[in-house]
Amino acid sequence: MRDALEVLAALAATAAGLWAWRRWHPATFWLVIGFPLAAVSVRASWRRVALGCGLTKKRQRWWFTTVPGAIASTGLVKVRRRFQRVAVDTKPFMWLPLPTQHGWRVTLHTLEGQTPGDYAEAAESLAHSWGVHAIRASSPRPGRVVLQATIRDPLVKVDQLPASDELLKVTVGRLETGRPWTIDFRTVPHWLNAGATQSGKSNLANALIVGLAPQPVALVGFDLKGGVEFTPYSPRLSALATSRTESVALLENLVALMIDRMGLCRQAGARNVWQLPPGIRPTPVVVLVDELAELYLMADKSEKDEIAKTSTALLRVAQLGRAFGIYLFCCGQRIGSDLGLGVTALRAQCSGRICHRVNDPETATMTLGDLDPAALVSARAIAAETPGVAIVAGQDGQWYRARSFYVTEQAAEHAARTHAHLTPSWDEITAHLPDPITA
Ligand SMILES: Nc1ncnc2c1ncn2[C@@H]1O[C@H](COP(=O)(O)OP(=O)(O)O)[C@@H](O)[C@H]1O
Ligand SMILES: [Mg+2]
Repeated sequence: MRDALEVLAALAATAAGLWAWRRWHPATFWLVIGFPLAAVSVRASWRRVALGCGLTKKRQRWWFTTVPGAIASTGLVKVRRRFQRVAVDTKPFMWLPLPTQHGWRVTLHTLEGQTPGDYAEAAESLAHSWGVHAIRASSPRPGRVVLQATIRDPLVKVDQLPASDELLKVTVGRLETGRPWTIDFRTVPHWLNAGATQSGKSNLANALIVGLAPQPVALVGFDLKGGVEFTPYSPRLSALATSRTESVALLENLVALMIDRMGLCRQAGARNVWQLPPGIRPTPVVVLVDELAELYLMADKSEKDEIAKTSTALLRVAQLGRAFGIYLFCCGQRIGSDLGLGVTALRAQCSGRICHRVNDPETATMTLGDLDPAALVSARAIAAETPGVAIVAGQDGQWYRARSFYVTEQAAEHAARTHAHLTPSWDEITAHLPDPITA
């Protein structure tokens, strides 16, 4: 009796110890306990899983098999062993799984006739077979496929990362892989940020404002929802347009600024502002648009001209802004072609794409374009309970699930006020422009 109690106590203590280890130090728990168990089970189940997910091929092999022979007079079937060719299911060769921060990855050799796409298609079945959150398939080189498994959704809770101190580069959240999610305007100059209401678009804009506020850049806002979103940040904004008329004027100002910078670069023999000597290099301008559709929606016919001007100016900024240090970050619930031809052309210029939770598949398709279909599936699967989660494409042609850091309006307002003294004055920036062409 004593012995049994002692054993039970020891077991309970071990379980509690393991639980505490996992709770307080999940990273080492995963490496020492979780991963080896997972690796063994993945290897052991590979044949069954590959068969179930349709990733095997039939191959002819020489094999000893039993074949039915003559029926003896007793009625028993005599069997004989024979060496003969039979068709067997072969599974793709699997290397040893390797641990990653949130799961494991493993390299496979594709079988003849298979493409990485076959594995990407089977990703969901693989994830269910192994009981993991998600599997992503990629192909580092022909004939090889890497399966990347994440055990649990790492984006349920994301912790803050240190701010980036590079110009025009902001760490706004975390990627599913655990790496930082950065928006770098010098690599990807223009961004589309789409999502339904309450999906986290403004939160991301807040994160950008907090990140850019301490940097020597001019921030310009377009907020046609009456300025409710951006007015609190006005201490750090060099210019803010809250009505249609203001936005037309400001956009034409931006175009004039761009043309002026073009002249400056031409004179100096530079292809873009970054090739100019630092002394005469103009201040970069980041343009934040809160609700893109508002710029295009017509309340009545009288606005037609203004909208046409807006659309042309915005498109010109997008086409030429990159070289002259003017960058766009456009947020919107919908960025469909029904808003006008201008939007389609603008979309083509924005290589950075962020798709938060969306209500309709079209918006996901419009935002993410013809990325991997799995990205669209992923975008549509974003839950309402995790605002700030988005599918991100841009920097390297790959797509990622990511989540922005939670940045409240108060935090962004605080940053705007703290760094108000760094705000370049719009009058100064546009001082030497020719007469405004806003006739
Ligand atoms: N990354 C995030 N982490 C946690 N909560 C978030 C995050 N992003 C947004 N939220 C929450 O979701 C709510 C809606 O976000 P918001 O950015 O205002 O959405 P949208 O502008 O798309 O309507 C916010 O009030 C905030 O509480
Ligand atoms: Mg919003």
